Amino acid sequence: MEKNRLFRWIFLLALISAFSMLSGCSGKAGSSSSAPPSSAPSGSTSSQEKEEDEQASESGTPVIDYQVLVNKNHSLPEGWEDAVDLVHITNSLGNEISVERSTYAAYLKLHDQLAREGIDVDISSAWRSEAEQQEFADSAAKEYGEKDGKKHAALTGHSEHQTGLALDLYIKIDGKDIYREKELMKYQEIWEEIHDQLAQFGFILRYPEGSEEVTGYAYEPWHIRYVEEKAAREITEQEITLEEYLDLDDL
Ligand code: DAL
Ligand code: ZN
Repeated sequence: MEKNRLFRWIFLLALISAFSMLSGCSGKAGSSSSAPPSSAPSGSTSSQEKEEDEQASESGTPVIDYQVLVNKNHSLPEGWEDAVDLVHITNSLGNEISVERSTYAAYLKLHDQLAREGIDVDISSAWRSEAEQQEFADSAAKEYGEKDGKKHAALTGHSEHQTGLALDLYIKIDGKDIYREKELMKYQEIWEEIHDQLAQFGFILRYPEGSEEVTGYAYEPWHIRYVEEKAAREITEQEITLEEYLDLDDL
């Protein structure tokens, strides 16, 4: 009788410890991540990268799709404003500029490379709020007229400046800041040298000359867009636009 009771206790203990071991390794703990704002084709991210993104999201780091398409047909993804991590700087004109964090880190490397080549650049505009984009569109309409203004400025909700991933550059020559669009257009040789350096740092020239039909915008030598290095190299090597690279059904 005593022996039987002992066996029953041992059996019970073994059962409890086996149960607690099983529940201790039952997959990942924690809730699922929130969906990242994205409009890129799903094929552009590997499943391993996706898993890393989800982990980043779970650990509280916002996930941003660096190949996001924002144009006349594609608006800023919902939730983007809450997800984007902005850094704030002051340019040489004394204007406060906000830029997405990784975009700014890449810009600093581009800036230093250009400085080594004797080219001094700064950022005249990067992230814009909806109100700031509206102001920009209004002033473009005044300068170019209602219809042509739309070739130079996006409607609110449709400007990639609202992503924080687009930068408008200006140049300094002999210590003089050159930032007005019409003035900047005169320095094509300098722009070509700048454009040659973009891809290695993850940037593309977003509105190239002759691509108005595809992008919807006139040539803007100053407007560069961060898409990360791999995409930037492929887009630049193939001489295509972001629209063509993403190859969506509705560009
Ligand atoms: N200038 C570009 C097209 C914008 O307004 O976003
Ligand atoms: Zn721009």
